[in-house]
Amino acid sequence: MASSFVSLLLPLLSFAGAQEQLPNCDPSAGKFSDNSTYQSNLELLLSTLSSDGYATGFLNTSVGGGSDQVFGLVNCRGDINATECRSCLDTATAEVTRNCPNYRAAELWYDVCLVLISDKPLPISSSNRQPLAFNSMNNAPEPNRFAWLLRMLMNRTADAAANSSKRFAIGEANYYTAEFPSIYVLMHCRHDLSHEQCRECLGTLFVPMPPLFVGKQGGRILGESCGMRFELYSFFQGSPTVNISVPSPSAMQLASAATSSGEIDLSVIGQCQEPINGLALTLLCCKIT
Ligand SMILES: *[C@@H]1O[C@H](CO)[C@@H](O)[C@H](O)[C@H]1NC(C)=O
Ligand SMILES: *[C@@H]1O[C@H](CO)[C@@H](O)[C@H](O)[C@H]1NC(C)=O
Ligand SMILES: *[C@@H]1O[C@H](CO)[C@@H](O)[C@H](O)[C@H]1NC(C)=O
Ligand SMILES: *[C@@H]1O[C@H](CO)[C@@H](O)[C@H](O)[C@H]1NC(C)=O
Ligand SMILES: *[C@@H]1O[C@H](CO)[C@@H](O)[C@H](O)[C@H]1NC(C)=O
Ligand SMILES: *[C@@H]1O[C@H](CO)[C@@H](O)[C@H](O)[C@H]1NC(C)=O
Repeated sequence: MASSFVSLLLPLLSFAGAQEQLPNCDPSAGKFSDNSTYQSNLELLLSTLSSDGYATGFLNTSVGGGSDQVFGLVNCRGDINATECRSCLDTATAEVTRNCPNYRAAELWYDVCLVLISDKPLPISSSNRQPLAFNSMNNAPEPNRFAWLLRMLMNRTADAAANSSKRFAIGEANYYTAEFPSIYVLMHCRHDLSHEQCRECLGTLFVPMPPLFVGKQGGRILGESCGMRFELYSFFQGSPTVNISVPSPSAMQLASAATSSGEIDLSVIGQCQEPINGLALTLLCCKIT
């Protein structure tokens, strides 16, 4: 599966704005000629997608018929408002023509929206066909603990995103290191995926973890069905809805020192071992009394 990732070793900070897009022009569908019916259908479709797509954040429609029918789909990430959605869709639909001139099929992905154009109906799919993956250049400290926390956080955030009506969730794992107190994960699916399809799609993003991400401080995957991003800093608006608090080994040492002096109830820590492995809801394992 990992071989299907196009890995571009870009520093993430250089790819931060909604204005930067990733065009994916599809040469297999061929090209249309200037002034063709396909072109005028495409122009009408693009203007419909940007004018009608932002209110609900999702639109799947087509213009024309026969071999000149053009199919299009737009989606905005669940956390962004209609104003921001409209601005992203305006840019995205304009860029289809600029980035993929005369292509019959194209996909443009931005951080907060996407636009798909095709000469065939766009099916709902619970996996990304050609996801793009980026990683941070920097290595994460305590790589084993990082991998463990990240996988648990992604697993929980994927559940929450699939369950939410906006197909979107942010997760935070606390107590990572003194330098980097938290790990943040954002996961999202296209609005038209069912709960099950969304969870399945998100699972493909981190099980197994793409080799590109192993040991790195950050990473992101963009795709036409689902996507995610993780960082050691906050990069989203709003608050996390999934919080995981697993004390670091040094916090555990402090806790056991406190225990021997009678200041902590060890059973609290003991009880937490099971929920940690079973990935229960918010874990607060060190309750110093
Ligand atoms: C397309 O139409 C424009 C304006 O009508 C014209 O200037 C241009 O030459 C046409 N291009 C082709 C390839 O026919
Ligand atoms: C929409 O979101 C943007 C970015 O967070 C914010 O600046 C803007 O004020 C919001 N607009 C409305 C109408 O809520
Ligand atoms: C888009 O709509 C068509 C029918 O109009 C449907 O067959 C297709 O599954 C829909 N695709 C998505 C991604 O919703
Ligand atoms: C995700 O959590 C579930 C239970 O909450 C567990 O069965 C599953 O193995 C976990 N998956 C990963 C990849 O950690
Ligand atoms: C997701 O929703 C189902 C049914 O509505 C519920 O049983 C489950 O506990 C929810 N999971 C999470 C992680 O919220
Ligand atoms: C998670 O933690 C953040 C910051 O620590 C807080 O703003 C947010 O309300 C918490 N969310 C939940 C669901 O506990």
